[in-house]
Amino acid sequence: MDNNELISEAIKVRPHSHSPYSKFAVGAALLTKSGRVFTGCNVENISFRLTMCAEQGAVAAAIAQGERDFTAIAVVADSKKPIVPCGGCRQLLAEFNPEIKVIMSTLDGAQEIVLLSQLLPRPAQGILESK
Ligand code: THU
Repeated sequence: MDNNELISEAIKVRPHSHSPYSKFAVGAALLTKSGRVFTGCNVENISFRLTMCAEQGAVAAAIAQGERDFTAIAVVADSKKPIVPCGGCRQLLAEFNPEIKVIMSTLDGAQEIVLLSQLLPRPAQGILESK
């Protein structure tokens, strides 16, 4: 699965977004080492703070299927420039692979590709690494 195929999967799930408040639909497609793809879209809530990002949905779907070895994630929105994952989603992804490839794309095909470590150089560590 190459970058463009992963972007296509994110584009396919994006219309399922529930985003009546922001009217900003986002699609994400997460690739596992075994070659499986898990997708997610943003799910907003009238209590705004409960909103879930597209990346969160994709991670939750993969984890529920027993997959946690992630190699890349594509994030797509209808924006002028590619959008970057929020801080919370960076930390969520870092839990599983701090070096995951993050492929950001607009619907028009403008792309930016970085490693998560470039977006989140020092992920929170906590109890497991602190001793
Ligand atoms: N959003 C995502 O789903 N992923 C991102 O990477 C950035 C933002 C969502 C959250 C909210 O529903 C909407 O986009 C506007 O911020």
